[in-house]
Order: sequence, then structure tokens, then C-alpha cells
Amino acid sequence: MQLTKFEEDMYNGEYGEGKAECMEILVSLGKIYDAEKMIPITSAQVSGVSYKTIGDAGLDFVVDLGKKAEVELETMLNPAGVDIENWEELGFSKEFTDKQIDIINGYESIGVMSTCTCTPYLIGNTPLLNEHVAWSESSAVCYVNSVIGARSNREGGPSALLAAIVGRTPYYGNHLLENRTADMIFDVDYEFSNEAEIGALGYYVGQIVNDQKPYFKLNGNPGRNNLKALGAALASSGAVSLYHVENVTPESEFARTHSTFEEKEVINIDKDIIEDALVGLSTTDKVPDLVCLGCPHASITEIQKVAQLVEGRKLSRDLWICTSKAIKSISQQCGYLDIIEAAGGKIVSDTCMVVSPMEELDYEVIGVNSAKAANYVPNMCKLDVVYDTVENLIDLIS
Ligand code: F3S
Repeated sequence: MQLTKFEEDMYNGEYGEGKAECMEILVSLGKIYDAEKMIPITSAQVSGVSYKTIGDAGLDFVVDLGKKAEVELETMLNPAGVDIENWEELGFSKEFTDKQIDIINGYESIGVMSTCTCTPYLIGNTPLLNEHVAWSESSAVCYVNSVIGARSNREGGPSALLAAIVGRTPYYGNHLLENRTADMIFDVDYEFSNEAEIGALGYYVGQIVNDQKPYFKLNGNPGRNNLKALGAALASSGAVSLYHVENVTPESEFARTHSTFEEKEVINIDKDIIEDALVGLSTTDKVPDLVCLGCPHASITEIQKVAQLVEGRKLSRDLWICTSKAIKSISQQCGYLDIIEAAGGKIVSDTCMVVSPMEELDYEVIGVNSAKAANYVPNMCKLDVVYDTVENLIDLIS
């Protein structure tokens, strides 16, 4: 690998032991993928935050790194295992919360912002077209590549953190323009009217393409919230890190006009496929004892919609909407938080239904409008799932 003089100095320890260790690991990673050089990045997003997923070994790694290194650029965390401000009210244990606080403090000591969200692009960590970044939450990687048009590989939590510390990442994969073309074309004959349908599409296609890059021909622009849902689903049933939607996403024209496009396999998707995928994502037809929205973390317009749906109602079961602290704060200023709380719901910040220890609470059936959550909750949380639209789920518990 070709390193600049500055990179070589970091590698050789001129800028401290921590940076040298990070460079050593990243250079080894680059060699595995035949990267010719490192590329400077402008932001990072680090997964591996919940104590449920990283445990004591992860905590030790973070604390140890904090003693010898700091991040060089804007770096945000993925959701944590609990809402630090409301853990007790939500029913999480003090033991788990204390460990979680230690992890977040460890990341803070490395200079990472302690806001924990899988939608950093909704709260200011929003790169520009063609910028190189190192993000690790799979749904966020899909969004940043596909909807924003910045360039990130699907990093692991540690590799994103190391990249943030040295300000660069190995130049391979999605960082190279030639790797951002489409691999398979999906001609979709369906009028999407909600997030559950488009999530079902993503879930179905993810299983077919795995880590390849799908190109969608859809009827119109599904909008940012639905693109968020589509990418999350693609990245959970498959390992998709970049997709294109014709005339909608920024690099779709590049993909469509590429010399190889006409040779790609075309798969037709119709109503039956979407409906089967939709039904297949539920594991039960029982009424959920918790409806949990916000996977990926809810945008302010998604929260506004929930507020409109629950205004004046009294919910018979629990309702959580997961989002970042920043979006919760905007919800409060807009009056949505008061409306949702008056109906019996909660806005839960900086965690989610998958990475929190939901299995320790008293729920058996959870209602979700996210194909990613429907895919993960049965295994990660040992709960049954009802997959449906936000409107239907709220009707079920009203
Ligand atoms: Fe985010 Fe948790 Fe879903 S991290 S994408 S809300 S599984």
C-alpha cells in the first residue's frame, strides 16, 4: 500500500502509540482487500455500542483505546442498549444501565459524540455527494451510499472507530466509483402506499442479492422515510450497502448509463411477491403488547405522523417510538411528545427494540413497521412479531 509521509509517520508512532496501532490494523485490512492507498474521510459512525452486543470485552476495548487515542473528526455512535435518561421507567436493570453508561463514557473519552443513533444523517452528520466516510451501522451505510451518494464500506464498529482516529480508511470497495454500478435490476410493478410494503420489497430483494447492488425501477419517488426503510431491510436480509432507484437516488443515472447495465439480469416484482413478503414477516397474529416504531430511528415527520394518529386516543397497550435525543427534543418543541404521552405512548431515545435487552422485560409480542426489526427481533429478543403499517398497529392497540 502507498502511504503518504504523514500516514507513514502515524504508522511509525510519531503521533503516538494509539494512532500507530490503528494504522497498523487499517493497513492490514487494506492489504486484505488490495487497497492501493488510504483515503481521507470526513465523518464516522460507530456500531458496537450496546452492552448487549459487545459485552465486557467491548467495554474493555473502548476504555483501553481511550487511554491512548482520540478521534480526529465528527463521529457518532449507534444506538445503545438502554435509554440512559428513562431506563428505570422502561423497566431496564441498573446493572445493565451502569455497564452501558461506562461504554458511552469510554467512547466520550476518545472524543466520540455521545449521541447514539442509527440515523446520524437526520441530526447533522450528513456528508455531501462523493465524500468518503467510515460508517458501520448497516442501514446507515445503505442510506449514506444510496440516498446521499457519499461513499462508505460496510465497516465493522472497530474499523470505523480506528478510521475516525487516524482520519482515513483503506481505499477499496464502495470508495471506488467503478464499484458503484448496479449488479441486478428489479422492475417493480406495484404502487407503494406505506413503509411496510416497501420494507417487504427490501426484505425480499436482500435475500436475492446478498451483498450485490440492486437497481430498482419503481413507480415514482418513495420519499426519504421509505428509502430509509428500504435500505434497512435490504441490509438486514442481505448485506446490501448500496442500491439505486431510477431517477431518484443520486447515482442512478451513472448506474443506468454504465456500459455493463444492459447485460444485467432483470427480475420482475409484482403484487403477489410484495404481499407474500409482507405476510411472511409476522410470526404471530396475536395483538402486540408493545408497538415499537423507529427502526431505523424515527425522523421528525414519522413522529409527527404518530402524533396525528394517536391524538385524542387512549392506547390499551404500550407504544414506544425510538429515535435520537435530538429528534426527541424537536418532538417536544413541536408538541408531538405531549400528544404521544397523553395517549400513553413514549418516545424512547438513543436505543432500539433490537439492541436493548427486550427479552428481560415482560413483553411477548411486539408490533413493528420495520422489516429489519421484524427480521431481527425474534432471534435477538426472543419475541413474536406482528409486522404491519403504523396506522394498523396503532389501531390494534387503541
Ligand atoms: Fe437502528 Fe436498531 Fe433498527 S440500530 S436500524 S433501530 S435495529
